[in-house]
Amino acid sequence: MKDNFYITTPIFYVNDAPHIGHAYTSITCDVISRFKKLQNINTRFLTGCDEHGQKVESSAIKNNKTPQEFVDQYSQTFQAMMDKLNISNDDFIRTTETRHKESVKALWNKLKENGSIYKGKYAGWYSMRDEAFYSEKELTEDGKAPTGADVEWIEESSYFFALSKWQDKLLDYYEKNEDFIYPKSARKEVINFVKNGLTDLSISRTSFKWGINVPGDEEHVIYVWLDALTNYISALGYPEKTQQLNDYWPATHVIGKDILRFHAIYWPAFLMAANIQLPQKIVSHGWWTNDGEKISKSLGNTIDPIELVNQYGLDPVRYFLMKEITFGKDGNFSHDNLVSRVNSELANKVGNLLQRTCSFAFKHCNKALPDISTTDIDAIYNISLITKAQKTIKLCISEMDQYNISQVLEHIITLAEDANAYIDQEAPWSLKKTNPKKMQQILYTLLELMRYIGIMLQPFVPDAANKILNQLQVKQNQRKLEHLKREYALTSGATIDAPEPIFPRIEK
Ligand code: MSP
Repeated sequence: MKDNFYITTPIFYVNDAPHIGHAYTSITCDVISRFKKLQNINTRFLTGCDEHGQKVESSAIKNNKTPQEFVDQYSQTFQAMMDKLNISNDDFIRTTETRHKESVKALWNKLKENGSIYKGKYAGWYSMRDEAFYSEKELTEDGKAPTGADVEWIEESSYFFALSKWQDKLLDYYEKNEDFIYPKSARKEVINFVKNGLTDLSISRTSFKWGINVPGDEEHVIYVWLDALTNYISALGYPEKTQQLNDYWPATHVIGKDILRFHAIYWPAFLMAANIQLPQKIVSHGWWTNDGEKISKSLGNTIDPIELVNQYGLDPVRYFLMKEITFGKDGNFSHDNLVSRVNSELANKVGNLLQRTCSFAFKHCNKALPDISTTDIDAIYNISLITKAQKTIKLCISEMDQYNISQVLEHIITLAEDANAYIDQEAPWSLKKTNPKKMQQILYTLLELMRYIGIMLQPFVPDAANKILNQLQVKQNQRKLEHLKREYALTSGATIDAPEPIFPRIEK
């Protein structure tokens, strides 16, 4: 097993403006990727745009643009969203780039050469919104796709991928690799679907033009999902045996539950057929509703992540999205919940703690961190507040490994609660005159705990955590989990600046 970690978001359709679902997937991957980096794991993080297909072509036409003009414009909005959300991706792939097209063609040729692709005729239902084929028995009573999307009957000459032949091998793989699909409910859903029988998959279309041409048969464009899924390896330089491919493949794919089938069935089957290693893991997350309602353009209740950030600030939004949902489950967005969560957890617990302790140190310790002896620091490392913080690191790593993202935050917030209780109990302000030495020890303990909180919060609220660590004079190169020990404890007596509020309360 490789120690490196490669994480991907789905690549986003560029037929519309980014919404909260796109932001959620991206922030989730960003948090996981930053957390791995905090653990000193060599990590690569990919995102990008899915720019071909009938849906994009039709949106371009509606907007009086050529598809290329249209995707150029929208892929920029997605890149801008990544910047606005402080997403730390290492690469951004667009499926209209030459590096990607070459890769897709190479994969096609490989599948064609080894007999996995054959030519035939497709007659069946297609949903442009989902860019997916559906069988008659999958349609709802009112003749829609199971996702609620409209379907149309299409009959075209088509290339097929011999998917049926992989049914048993896929089931065998799921069986032997229990952790391949997360969560368990998603794994079950996939296994049931495959057990019901797989039919060969149509992988080319002739009724529109916007896509990658089938090598040697220009009438056909390659099915957008075969094209899109390949991004995960095209971005590493497939088919060349690049260093990146060698270092980082296989990936962990984070996706929304609606696109599970493509990632957990079709993609592994394509890869098996091409004799490429399967992904490390498929991690499926839930969906956001808006005040209890399904989010859709037709209902006019989409949520614009850029507006949210403008209204509340980036870190509060990132925090809310990660804390509100139990990862893997659906969650509900509401402005009221955002405000009350940010106020009660970030502002009241973490922000307040930092403000109280730093202001106190600034005022009563000569504008510096408390000046205490080495033996005192040793002693502090034995008190339960700090030993618990040390245990929390392991706990957070283990929760993160199981994608319990909101739980990681819960553990960090609990530390802040403990610290607040400790201040109230020890009342350092009452010791100013009577026992200034003890006062400094208590303050140091609290600030040292704040260092733990700041370091662990970095993946979630990077800007704010950075400010916390700056305020505590923590060196830039000492901000990883490995630095959370006695050896790297705060520098006694280091000068500090007058503290500024890091998590101000949001007024309703
Ligand atoms: N282009 C495909 C993915 C190809 S990956 C090889 C696609 N794009 S998408 O833009 O429609 O969706 C991107 C992601 O946004 C998906 O993971 C989807 O689950 C997620 N979301 C869309 N709406 C959502 C919510 N309301 N809530 C949470 N995530 C949702 O699918």
